[in-house]
Amino acid sequence: MNTTETQSLNKYSRTLTQEVTNPAAQAMLYGIGLKESDMAKPQIGIASTGYEGNPCNMHLNGLSVYVKQGVQANDMVGLIFNTIGVSDGMTNGNDGMRYSLPSRDLIADSIESVVQAQWYDGVIAVVGCDKNMPGAIMAMARLERPAIMVYGGTIRSGHYKGQKLDIVSAFEALGKKFAGNISDEDFKGVIQNSIPGAGACGGMYTANTMAASIEAMGLSLPFSSSYPATHEGKQDECRKIGAAMKKLLELNLTPKEIITRKSLENALTVVMALGGSTNATLHYLAIARAAGIPLTLDDIQAVSDRTPFIADLKPSGKYYMEDILAIGGVPAIMKYLYAQGLIHGDCLTITGKTVAENLAEAPDLDFETQNIIFPLTNPIKASGHIQIMYGNLAPTGAVAKITGKEGLRFEGHAKICEHESEIIDMLSKGEIKEGHVVVIRNAGPKGGPGMSEMLKPTSAVIGAGLGDKIALITDGRFSGGTHGFVVGHITPEAFDGGPIALVKDGDLITIDATTRQLILHISDEDMATRKAAWIQPKPMFTKGVLGKYIRNVKSASEGCVTDEN
Ligand code: FES
Repeated sequence: MNTTETQSLNKYSRTLTQEVTNPAAQAMLYGIGLKESDMAKPQIGIASTGYEGNPCNMHLNGLSVYVKQGVQANDMVGLIFNTIGVSDGMTNGNDGMRYSLPSRDLIADSIESVVQAQWYDGVIAVVGCDKNMPGAIMAMARLERPAIMVYGGTIRSGHYKGQKLDIVSAFEALGKKFAGNISDEDFKGVIQNSIPGAGACGGMYTANTMAASIEAMGLSLPFSSSYPATHEGKQDECRKIGAAMKKLLELNLTPKEIITRKSLENALTVVMALGGSTNATLHYLAIARAAGIPLTLDDIQAVSDRTPFIADLKPSGKYYMEDILAIGGVPAIMKYLYAQGLIHGDCLTITGKTVAENLAEAPDLDFETQNIIFPLTNPIKASGHIQIMYGNLAPTGAVAKITGKEGLRFEGHAKICEHESEIIDMLSKGEIKEGHVVVIRNAGPKGGPGMSEMLKPTSAVIGAGLGDKIALITDGRFSGGTHGFVVGHITPEAFDGGPIALVKDGDLITIDATTRQLILHISDEDMATRKAAWIQPKPMFTKGVLGKYIRNVKSASEGCVTDEN
């Protein structure tokens, strides 16, 4: 780390504000209201994914104003800009969902573009939904300047007839409706009461997984992932960010020094301990690539192997993210993991201190009074729930979520869905039966395109009472809200002629979590014959965002990055 004795804090913005050859830029800065006394101050870009249209992002522009106040109070200029944001919960199946994962890279590109083009000295990202966070961190990893992420916060629970609800309750109500297990009144009641206001989906789904693990990686303040969106601590955090950014500028501490092999392992350890979303595998592969750090699916498996799953959180457990704050927040959980030798303490963080120094101030978990986090001596599962699978159905890898509750082995006959939407239709007609391995293909990053998330199908399966009776495999993704016997991210994807494209209705498939094998029981000769007869589908889009995405995106085993050859 460099000290600042010889460095000014306006290392980048001074090009615009101090050089005589930039009169137009200076005129524009006066035009937005800056005074002469502001011109030598560091300029901080505040990237908000604020957007009125969904609960995860609806409050972020408001939080950004508090961030800006904190920046100005520390004698810097804060300038808010927006990027796009897509809520997965509102994409309505594949047609909208196609844009979700690509939005991550658009967010990264947007933040990189504005910060580089406008010469900001630092960047603060105020983000709140699944793709926003990895998108922001990917941008930070590309930019060599101080950066902090502020999480918008988790949502509070909804309530209906004495039951706690969240977004998954609404999806599962659909499955109950198909199965005739819910009245019309209660169906409507669940939908109208699942979401009580601002905040990201409330279980240990993708948003909370990314927020908790990014905090563990050191890029947000301690407790950032634990304060619910509407908790007063969230506003306090926003106001403190200015001082934290000033310190980072003084230390010239950038994400390149914070995102390291060890800090990525800390992030993945927290994902495993908390039972987080499988999407974290995609996002950390992509963040590592943006930071230039080699990280593979096998490295993720190694973290899973050594990390017990200890959190009784939704989707597989009982509790919500809002419950974590009361037991000491993510810092208390990290402190416990650190004491047990599972967290690297010497990683630098945006406080300017190491992880160990931050954790020295964290509360302790009390195993007498709380039952959300289990002790390592009595884990829910002795190793991580995320398992990397291989086998003749997934030669270059797949990702499964195995909590142990659904069993460790499933063998059944294939039921093919060429498109995600078919499963809803099949369920409503009762065509999906106990023992089926439902194969949803053409859902990969190129074939989808956009690698759809299967929240609707899996929730509908659970709601229909088939959650522990069938398995589901796909070259698409699963929402962090998914539970049940599911394998996603199968590579190569069907669009590229991966074996998943060659499965036929009735084929026998084995999913074995103990050997981490995904096996299609046909001979190599049959596989070769089917492959020879396979014809690559035409890309669904050749223009626009999705046309560009199909041409550029790497496989799920490579994080679906779009900026590498
Ligand atoms: Fe935004 Fe769930 S859809 S956090």
